[in-house]
Amino acid sequence: MRKSIYFTLSRKDQDKIPNTFVVDNKVGGDDYTFWIKEFEKKNYDIYFVNWDDYSNQIFLNTYHYNSSKFVEPKKLTPEDAIFLYKQEGFLLPENISRFHRMLDEIELTGAFIINNPKTIRWNISKEHLYYLMENDAKVCKAYEVKDVINRVGSGEKFVVKPKIASRGDGLILINFKEDLNKIKNLEDSLENYVAQELCNGIREGEKSLFFIGNNYSHAVLKVPNPDNKNEIRCNKSAGGIVSKYEPTEEEIEYSKGIMNLISKKYPTMYSRIDFSYHNNEPHIIEAELLNPSAFAIFARVGEEFAIKLVNFLDKLISKHLTK
Ligand SMILES: Nc1ncnc2c1ncn2[C@@H]1O[C@H](COP(=O)(O)OP(=O)(O)O)[C@@H](O)[C@H]1O
Ligand SMILES: [Mg+2]
Repeated sequence: MRKSIYFTLSRKDQDKIPNTFVVDNKVGGDDYTFWIKEFEKKNYDIYFVNWDDYSNQIFLNTYHYNSSKFVEPKKLTPEDAIFLYKQEGFLLPENISRFHRMLDEIELTGAFIINNPKTIRWNISKEHLYYLMENDAKVCKAYEVKDVINRVGSGEKFVVKPKIASRGDGLILINFKEDLNKIKNLEDSLENYVAQELCNGIREGEKSLFFIGNNYSHAVLKVPNPDNKNEIRCNKSAGGIVSKYEPTEEEIEYSKGIMNLISKKYPTMYSRIDFSYHNNEPHIIEAELLNPSAFAIFARVGEEFAIKLVNFLDKLISKHLTK
């Protein structure tokens, strides 16, 4: 039996380009193209779908990559694998419940899901940092906003950010008492935000270390826009600059420690640990376990990473199929 894998990808100009699935790569780049080649070598049927097209338990536009054409959409089965990869806009408040519903329904089909749904549900909110804090990891500490509101503005600096967001969207830097007004001006409920202590080394950048299972693969350094001294967001979409990085042994050990802690409770396949220096020590800002951009091309290991990742996933998928 041929194995099959679905990739959720952002589709460009669906209305204007009806007969082919043009992938919108503006976020995250082309890493998936290398992965697909490896899955092809392993004789997988590869399907491209857009999460936004998911309705009544099927992806309305299902593109069969191997034959370069759209095919009759069907409900996933336990024989399918699906990589919830690029999902443009799914973390927006208006879309999040739809995303959860899709995840629940796909899980019920018995398909093999990358990453594990339990891990996705945990990681989707910045509250995942609480688990790491409870287990004494070195974390840029995060709190419920109500619990630190009295500390804010009295010399301590915080970053208030939505619990569910990406690309640095909705982030507020609280340096001074007056900045509290920015929180008051939020139309949303404070419960939807975390207040995280400001990591004081952020202008030197955030390091992202990638893991396949619990094995370290490669790293990049992301620095905030150098022309704007007030910018703390390292996200590429916010003008951050990404480059290849060779981490020190200590940094690899630090990130591995975080991965070990996570995988004790949440199965991990493809992960990214984002940390910066705070008081001269690595402190995690967030763990990205749901569709992290791999930046393997930036690290000049596009193909190498693809081979390792696909070998790893293929073993898990094959095991799932024998169950
Ligand atoms: N506590 C913090 N201290 C310093 N910089 C931060 C902090 N939290 C976030 N940032 C900056 O903002 C960026 C986006 O925040 P992050 O928590 O990674 O959310 P997102 O999921 O939107 O990427 C980070 O990459 C980092 O550059
Ligand atoms: Mg981030």
